[in-house]
Amino acid sequence: MNIHPEFHRFLHRHDKENLLDQRGLVIWLYGLSGSGKSTIANAAERVLHQQGRFTTILDGDNLRTGLNANLGFTDEDRLENIRRISEVAKVFVSQGVITFVSAITPRGELRDLARGLLGGDLFEVYVKASFEACEQRDVKGLYAKAARGEIAHFTGKDGSFEAPQNPDLVLDTENSSIEENAIELLESIRTRITLNHP
Ligand code: ADX
Repeated sequence: MNIHPEFHRFLHRHDKENLLDQRGLVIWLYGLSGSGKSTIANAAERVLHQQGRFTTILDGDNLRTGLNANLGFTDEDRLENIRRISEVAKVFVSQGVITFVSAITPRGELRDLARGLLGGDLFEVYVKASFEACEQRDVKGLYAKAARGEIAHFTGKDGSFEAPQNPDLVLDTENSSIEENAIELLESIRTRITLNHP
């Protein structure tokens, strides 16, 4: 092995967290395309920002234009997509940053991968909306395209979506507003991002 990671010379996570006066956490929102993941992440991030918290958002759609531009939507590519997002999130959280991830993450295997890499730093949020509701919203016009057979492996159609077993939080975007969901999310992570909280 010719690679020698040198973590011992680096500043520690708690140095960064003390500077920022917050604890790092990865808040991973998953759910169907159009379920509201990015919208909730944005709303929650804005509130935290106003409260003086240092945050970032890793958005699946955006990362697929750069870091993950060479990946498609096969099971294999999604696994690599989630692995890369998890590794980037791991760097951010190790600097004390409150990191939102917005990615469909459609199968248990993918969530297990993220959990394996992030461990206790991961807070899993299932953004729940039915295929039919997302199809009706069709913000990006993708459901119409998929219905015409123009998108392969479309999640919920010919690409599977497995409902999660034990998410830390479920946000139902068919029956609650974005504001209500963002508030519920922030309340549920409040102690997790507070320094010196047991
Ligand atoms: S994931 O499954 O690997 O987690 P990710 O969140 O990065 O997916 O990307 C999903 C986004 O890609 C969707 O919001 C949508 O805009 C776009 N997209 C393009 N093709 C597909 C497809 N076949 N299935 C789902 N989303 C797709």
